[in-house]
Amino acid sequence: MEVPLRPEMFDFHGVSMTNVITDNWDNVQNFKARPDDILISTYPKAGTTWISYIIDLLYFENMDPDRQTSIPLHERVPFLEICVPPLPSGTDLADKLPTTPRLIKTHLPVQFVPKSFWEQRCRVVYMARNAKDNVVSYFHFNRMNSALPEPGDWSTFLQDFMEGKRVYGSWYDHVNGWWEKKQTYSDFHYMFYEDLIEDYEKEIDRLCSFLGLSPSVEEKERVRASVTFDSMKQNKMTNYSTVPVMNQEVSPFMRKGPTACWATFVSQYLLSPVVLIKYTFSYTLSRLAAFVI
Ligand code: A3P
Repeated sequence: MEVPLRPEMFDFHGVSMTNVITDNWDNVQNFKARPDDILISTYPKAGTTWISYIIDLLYFENMDPDRQTSIPLHERVPFLEICVPPLPSGTDLADKLPTTPRLIKTHLPVQFVPKSFWEQRCRVVYMARNAKDNVVSYFHFNRMNSALPEPGDWSTFLQDFMEGKRVYGSWYDHVNGWWEKKQTYSDFHYMFYEDLIEDYEKEIDRLCSFLGLSPSVEEKERVRASVTFDSMKQNKMTNYSTVPVMNQEVSPFMRKGPTACWATFVSQYLLSPVVLIKYTFSYTLSRLAAFVI
């Protein structure tokens, strides 16, 4: 089974996907989750690496300091649905994880999540990022990552994104689908990238309370120092510099982060006002609702 670089997109049960995601589909769907697994879910480029690293450190920073400097984060927090031979698939890596709880990352829309996660009542952390920074980040990621389809130029990519025609489908359906799941599934923590930037401490306290963790002040400080944008950009275990399909000379994985500014990029083009209002309005409502609930 060979994965072509720059794979083609196709419609997969109504969502744009590539074979990098669907080749291992049966194993993904039959994945046996354990009750203490933690599923970390995002639309691509919503800060998955950041929140994964935070949770990994909250659990394991104390336990094994060597692990932090010798095992890349994508091996510590396997990417459930990814399959890029000859590298081990996400399900293989997850099956072999030696740590408990297992932290497992996915970008799957909620309807594709293997049912064992729900049956086992696994805890779920979802992080959303506003569509405008998300799409800019996703464009540059498509440019530098040859396991993704060719992005085309910016205006084509933006149009595709707004029509839900990039890998993993519609941003809107993704954040909404997971938001709806939160209403019926209690072991769920829904976070926003912007909240984490605005008030890191409050968000970490809320996260720890959900996970049942009570790190000391010193532990929290150590985690905080490790997960700053600059620390993670320098850290080979978190900056994906060891991943061959990513060409960081085209665009670094850790690109702009907290200083990302969609406006200068997007405003050069005509972003459909209707889509912009729909995205911004629903996203702001969700952030407000998360605050109230
Ligand atoms: P930019 O491309 O806007 O810089 P993912 O991990 O889901 O692929 O998301 C990557 C995005 O999260 C990138 O956004 C990256 O810079 C940002 N990011 C990663 N670590 C971060 C951190 N410690 N603080 C803020 N943003 C971070």
